[in-house]
Amino acid sequence: MSRTAPTARPRTFASSSPSSRDTAPPISRPTERPVAEAVAAVRVAAAEQLTELEVLSRQAAGCTRCRLHEGRTQVVFGNGNPDADLMFVGEAPGFHEDKQGLPFVGQAGKLLDKLLAGIGLTRADVFVCNVLKCRPPGNRDPVPDEKEACEPYLFRQVELIKPKVIATLGNHATKQLSGKETGITRVHGQEQRLKVGAFDVLLYPLYHPAAALYTPAMLSVLEQDFARLPELLGREIAPLEPPPVLVPVAAEPAVQLGLF
Ligand code: URA
Repeated sequence: MSRTAPTARPRTFASSSPSSRDTAPPISRPTERPVAEAVAAVRVAAAEQLTELEVLSRQAAGCTRCRLHEGRTQVVFGNGNPDADLMFVGEAPGFHEDKQGLPFVGQAGKLLDKLLAGIGLTRADVFVCNVLKCRPPGNRDPVPDEKEACEPYLFRQVELIKPKVIATLGNHATKQLSGKETGITRVHGQEQRLKVGAFDVLLYPLYHPAAALYTPAMLSVLEQDFARLPELLGREIAPLEPPPVLVPVAAEPAVQLGLF
């Protein structure tokens, strides 16, 4: 499933080296990051041979773009295979994720592992992250300005990982990535073409495992939707806007010149 052979251990991008920098990651629209900071980040990356994803993770580790930095234990950047064809995007870290710095390590994560095993995959084959990288207090729902502040990290993750399929888990991730307000009950299990920056991907909305934990009917729908993932991963994703076909203009017939 992955573009490279699955690694024995997923490389994690936990915030091991917090930076005090509060910089938006580069995304496909112009950023306001000062040039000096960009140059410094490139120097550090070159010196330590960091990948762009690792650089992004370090930027996120020191993020203070929204109020959630005040109450977090650490940023939960996401982890798994940085070359994964399949990326999962959940809502936000919960209690255990905040403590461990890793996404989906609680009960919902155990269900995610089980669902993955059902289609022959492990967490080492996929990349898992959330819309929000910091835990909202008391696990409340993310609010719009938090989602907006965190969005550049998510979009940049997508651009760097370049998955074929992004499976969004629940309403928040689905709405954030589709840019539409249609709820998960109506769109789950229906793949949608999506452009993230210059990059084409298949968006595949799924119920959130945490919701399915307590509703057996939802769990069975989630299992059925999950079962379609191998087929989606095997698909060729053609660009959304194919280059215009240039049709040669037929030459004008030669004008018959009158001789009188
Ligand atoms: N729920 C989420 O949406 N994300 C996690 O990381 C854990 C639980």
